[in-house]
Amino acid sequence: MCGIVGFSGTGDVVSVLLDGLSRLEYRGYDSAGLACLDSGKIWCVRRTGKVAELERAVRSAPLPAGAWASTGNGPAASVGIAHTRWATHGSPTERNAHPHLDCTGRIAVIHNGILDNYRSLRRRLEDQGHSIASDTDSELLAHLLEEGLASGKSLHEAARHAMSEAEGAIAMAAIAAEYPDCVVVARRDSPLLVGKEETFSIAASDIPALLPYTRNVVVLEDGEVAVLKGPKVELYDSEGNRTSPRFRKISWEAESPELGRFPDFMLKEIYEQPEAVARTLMSRVDAGNIVLDDVRIDPADLASISKVCAVACGTSYHAALASKYSTERWARIAVEVDLSSEFRYRDPVIDDRVLLVAISQSGETADSLAALRHARAQGARVLTICNVVDSSMARESDAVLYTRAGPEIGVAATKTFLAQLTATTLLGLYLGQQRKHLDTSQVAATIAGMQQIPDLLSRHLPRWDEEMSALADRFAETRDVFFLGRGPGYPVALEGALKLKEISYLRAEGYAAGEMKHGPIALIEPGVVVFVIGTASKTQEKVFSNLEEVKARGATTVLVIDSESRALAPESDFVVEVPRVDELLSPMIDVVPLQLFAYYMAKRRGLDVDKPRNLAKTVTVE
Ligand code: F6R
Repeated sequence: MCGIVGFSGTGDVVSVLLDGLSRLEYRGYDSAGLACLDSGKIWCVRRTGKVAELERAVRSAPLPAGAWASTGNGPAASVGIAHTRWATHGSPTERNAHPHLDCTGRIAVIHNGILDNYRSLRRRLEDQGHSIASDTDSELLAHLLEEGLASGKSLHEAARHAMSEAEGAIAMAAIAAEYPDCVVVARRDSPLLVGKEETFSIAASDIPALLPYTRNVVVLEDGEVAVLKGPKVELYDSEGNRTSPRFRKISWEAESPELGRFPDFMLKEIYEQPEAVARTLMSRVDAGNIVLDDVRIDPADLASISKVCAVACGTSYHAALASKYSTERWARIAVEVDLSSEFRYRDPVIDDRVLLVAISQSGETADSLAALRHARAQGARVLTICNVVDSSMARESDAVLYTRAGPEIGVAATKTFLAQLTATTLLGLYLGQQRKHLDTSQVAATIAGMQQIPDLLSRHLPRWDEEMSALADRFAETRDVFFLGRGPGYPVALEGALKLKEISYLRAEGYAAGEMKHGPIALIEPGVVVFVIGTASKTQEKVFSNLEEVKARGATTVLVIDSESRALAPESDFVVEVPRVDELLSPMIDVVPLQLFAYYMAKRRGLDVDKPRNLAKTVTVE
């Protein structure tokens, strides 16, 4: 995790670094820091909290001349590095914030990743007399660079030395007083990109931090080291040989989403869901057929696959789980669903007849990327469903089905979940069609159902908004909430619970309704709130019985029910009415009131819904 930025050249270095960090804050925001070189000395500021805290500190600190080149006070060329952190080793304190310095204070390093051999490496460096000032693994890189430079290596050789001594995921950037116009960067298993223009070069963890400054970008490969020296970029391959950087033009627009009439991005993104669904559907259906030009896998190969393995994390995992119900029904093919972090370690049975579907908003999630690589290495075809164009997962897949939800700023996934459900539905229908399990009329009927969803969402959002706001007032003191569902309602229950946990910090459990009686029902007592997803389905009657079971034990119940079934439903303390759609499409509707409930519960508790504690939007550590 963590976001890193490095800059070398002419410009307002500090402002570029701070701007880059603010664009990378989705990668972590528990502390931030930057370091510049001024008159042969390293100038370093670090703060706990968000990038805004760092900016306040930097703006009020005595500034080095070089850091403010644009004011005309200092030399026109300068270098700097900056970091926004998501803590892995060491609590989020100022002492553990990056950049970290070596023993001499003449080298500063920032790092994204985890050093797997942290303990033994730290012991070795301490035994050799290095004094380690923080609890982080990252600081060790500063001491390894120090070791390299002290032994006579050049800057890029010292970086290679650090990479060879440290095991695990590394994207790092460093400056050294002995190299006043250079930033050295290196990567292994964590993303890092370098861009350049006529007067400077810049490196960052992700494209959004580069786009305001350049579109000439090279994505570093594993093991590569680059030295940024003003507009010059020297690239070294994993063997240390000098190579030519393969810059290419990035065509995306730098989007800077505005809040508009909304108080926060999460609410705005909940309201953008109709558009997210419509855009993901756009040009992918034609005269009752699914057209997935992006799936560049031979239809004959698709027809012969033996199973689908879907891997994902968090909310994306819930989309994968929902896809199991629809794809198995429509394509009559087995779909195994794994949490990406579990997948490769269970040694799954994979061969070239497996289609691995990796689902990720960011396309950078370390666990999902590792799962994808594992499956690919065993011969599987890999199809990624993701929102971020050109992400690592997209680049490493045989095919990509982009969700077109637009940038999602709120850390809690909302509109990208609906876009993922749309994409997996399209894929399920497509497989059903290719495998000749669905005829055109069945596909056309389901497409027609999907095409109604944006409008249904737009029409019902305002009412759900009011109702969920009122419900959050009613449950202001509630501390225990269950979400129960069966079939496609089960991933909805899981997602309702995850949303509530992550932004309101309340204890919430999502459970398969039929499983409650096997243990968790012991937790039900007066005061516990239970949401039951009871919309029309094969198992609706059973879900109703499960509602009666928790009611009988004193729970306060909230039934999510479609309008046509309402008359048949058992009594419930509260009812959230939703429009009736096909059971397999129902997650796209049923989850939305739950997102709003989580939102209002968090707001009542005065919490930052866009940046919940301990979380990051993109999780690039395993
Ligand atoms: C929850 C949430 C996370 C992500 C998870 C996977 O609201 O956002 O659980 O879903 O970290 O991230 P992606 O989808 O980027 O792989």
